Order: sequence, then structure tokens, then C-alpha cells
Amino acid sequence: MAVKDPTKTYWDWSTAGQDLPEDHYTYLKIKGSFVYQTDFKPTYTWFNGNLSYRYLLGDPVDPTRPTFINRPAGSIDDPTARIFPFKVHIANQPYDTINDYLLQPITAGENGYWTNFDWDLAFRLAEPITGVKYSGSYGFAETWMYWPTTHMVQPKESALQCTDCHAEDGRLDWEALGYPGDPVEWGGRFDQ
Ligand code: HEC
Repeated sequence: MAVKDPTKTYWDWSTAGQDLPEDHYTYLKIKGSFVYQTDFKPTYTWFNGNLSYRYLLGDPVDPTRPTFINRPAGSIDDPTARIFPFKVHIANQPYDTINDYLLQPITAGENGYWTNFDWDLAFRLAEPITGVKYSGSYGFAETWMYWPTTHMVQPKESALQCTDCHAEDGRLDWEALGYPGDPVEWGGRFDQ
């Protein structure tokens, strides 16, 4: 994916607010640090066109593990699901360390983060707007967001060959997808 222009795959909000050299692809004072990638392999997972989960304001966060902003629905046992390519966008986002949920800062305007670079003020400003209580104590936690890839198709010369998938270091992690091993050896999902 991202065969022409690079796409953002990582965004760390915790480094925002510093006077560092700025560059659209690596660091902006108002937004923090980023990683952009070009021409890279997507993440494959089962997808039946629906989501099994999407994060709503106030949903719990466990800061010791990634929080899913959304999750594709489907599994090897779901005949309507297909193995589908995604961009997984990973971020380090502010959360309330007492209440364990994500915090939505107000960024624009007089007391917004982008004016004062004061997270605490930006969360206090958000409280009456979002209705999500702010304890006064914040940290940053990892989030994962799945973006279905439906374009950015490679030219035909780059079409995948059998061994791109059916090989020791192939691009599909068969066990993670629910297969006992490479289907060439073990059969497809309807043979299980
Ligand atoms: C993009 C990844 C990908 C590529 C490229 C690919 N395969 Fe597969 N192949 C799969 C998947 C996924 C399955 C399992 C399908 C299922 O569960 O029904 C599979 C299943 C198989 C099976 C087992 C079918 C069965 O039901 O027993 C064989 C044999 C096979 N592939 C051979 C090939 C050959 C030969 C090529 C090249 C011409 C090829 N594959 C290219 C992903 C791929």
C-alpha cells in the first residue's frame, strides 16, 4: 500500500509541544511525532464488512496493552468473511490515568492545546463539551485503528506469486488467521 505517497502509520501525541525541528513527515509541535511509510505490506485479518467494536467516548482503556479504536469483524469460521488488507494506524494518545479512558483535548481556540500547549487546560476545557470527567491526571496509551485498503493497487508486474503467501516467511500468518498451518499442506478453511 501507499505505492505513490507515504501514509501515516504511527502518531505519538506525547511528544507534542516541544520546540524541535519541524517537518510534515516526522514532527510538528502541535501534533507530536509521526512515522510515514511507503510501499509496505498491509496487515491481513478476517473481515466480513462489519466492525466487531468501535471505541466510544468513556470506554475503558488498559494502558498496559493497545486499545482498539475499531476492530474488523469476521473469523475463519465466518463463511462471509475474507482475508482483507488493512493499514493499522498506531498512536500514543492521551488518557485519564485515574478513570482509565481516553481523553479528548480541545485543540483549537483561545485555551486550546494548539494555543497554550497545555494538555491539562485542554482536557479541562473539553469536560463540559464531551461530558467525560477529567480527574486532573493524564498519561499516554497506545491505540490501534484499522483502515481497510480498497485502492492503491499494485501494477500487474507486482502481482503476488504463490510463494508470497505459501512459504515459510510468507506474508500471511496462517496460525494467527486460524489455520493449523499453510493450506497447501493442511487444506483450506472449508476442509477443516
Ligand atoms: C494472497 C495470498 C495467496 C496467494 C498469492 C496464493 N494463495 Fe493459495 N491460498 C491462500 C489462502 C488464504 C488459502 C486458503 C483458502 C481457504 O481457506 O479456502 C490458499 C489455499 C491454497 C491451497 C489449498 C486449497 C485447498 O482447499 O486445499 C492450495 C493448493 C494453494 N492455495 C495453492 C496456491 C498456488 C499454486 C498459488 C499460485 C498460483 C497460490 N496458492 C497463491 C492464499 C494465497
